[in-house]
Amino acid sequence: MIDNLKAMIDEAMHRLESVASLEDAENLRVKILGKKGELTEMMKSMKDMAPEQRKEFGAVANEARTRIEKTISDKMDYFRELKKQAEFAAETIDVTEPGIVTPLGAKHLISITIDEISRVFMDMGFSVAEGPEVETVFNNFDALNAGPNHPARDITDTFYITDDVLLRTQTSSVQVRTLLAKKPPIKVIAPGRCFRCDTPDATHSPMFHQVEGLVVGEGITMADLKGVLDSFAKQMFGPDSRTKFRPHHFPFTEPSAEMDVSCFKCGGAGCNICKGSGWIEILGCGMVHPNVLKVGGIDTEKYTGFAFGMGVERIAMLKYGVDDIRLLYENDIRFIRQFK
Ligand code: DAH
Repeated sequence: MIDNLKAMIDEAMHRLESVASLEDAENLRVKILGKKGELTEMMKSMKDMAPEQRKEFGAVANEARTRIEKTISDKMDYFRELKKQAEFAAETIDVTEPGIVTPLGAKHLISITIDEISRVFMDMGFSVAEGPEVETVFNNFDALNAGPNHPARDITDTFYITDDVLLRTQTSSVQVRTLLAKKPPIKVIAPGRCFRCDTPDATHSPMFHQVEGLVVGEGITMADLKGVLDSFAKQMFGPDSRTKFRPHHFPFTEPSAEMDVSCFKCGGAGCNICKGSGWIEILGCGMVHPNVLKVGGIDTEKYTGFAFGMGVERIAMLKYGVDDIRLLYENDIRFIRQFK
């Protein structure tokens, strides 16, 4: 009996040597030490032995059991460690590897310029109004005192959708919407796209942007107009900027003017930017025509107002030295990036 036991133990130890994985080790443990394992079975047979024999058999079997358990447990530890190391290796992060760079976009120069203009007026208490790019002929022309024979209404100047609907030619249409929707005091600017049938060249585009302004209240005079717009020019083009107002004509203002700013490149001496004159034309403006106020049902005896409108592209090009308007719409990333 004891020889069988010893042979079984030798055999078990031999098999244990060639265990090659955690599973192998577990299988072998069940096979030898499990409930029906080889060693367990042999130990069960001890109950039928004579006491002397049982003692010797028991000693050998117990010693073997301890040794086999230890060996299996060592093997398992070893394979567990191996597995853990393999997992670590698979998860390794190379912290020195360069990251994946997500390129940051840049604001378009038109947006930058609209934001700059808006900021100046918002600081003076203006709020921002918006109107649709597809407008009624009424809001774009009639309500702005531009009657049926006004040249700007011509089919060759304006994109008509139907006889009564068009792509707005000016943000001045937002003046009408504002007058119809609000009661004085009114103090708004309205940035947005406009459209005219122009053939693209270095200074013309059939789509462009304007920022409109409208102020209506009691006792508003030309002095308010000049104060606000002069302050705008100083904030936009530098504190040393000077302004001058030239008489002009717009159907929706009376009197009307154009505002020039002293050249921000040469300061007024004359250069290529101001074409030698020392002045740069920046915007149109005037006191709101009573006919326009009346459209909004405003009491023209009590209220007066002023309005202004400027071309965003023109200001952006002058301020940032862009010499061709088409660059603004080509969306060449190398161009756009320069104005971060
Ligand atoms: N809408 C005019 C244009 O497109 C610009 C303009 C001039 C707007 C005078 C105004 C204004 O509000 O008062 O040429």
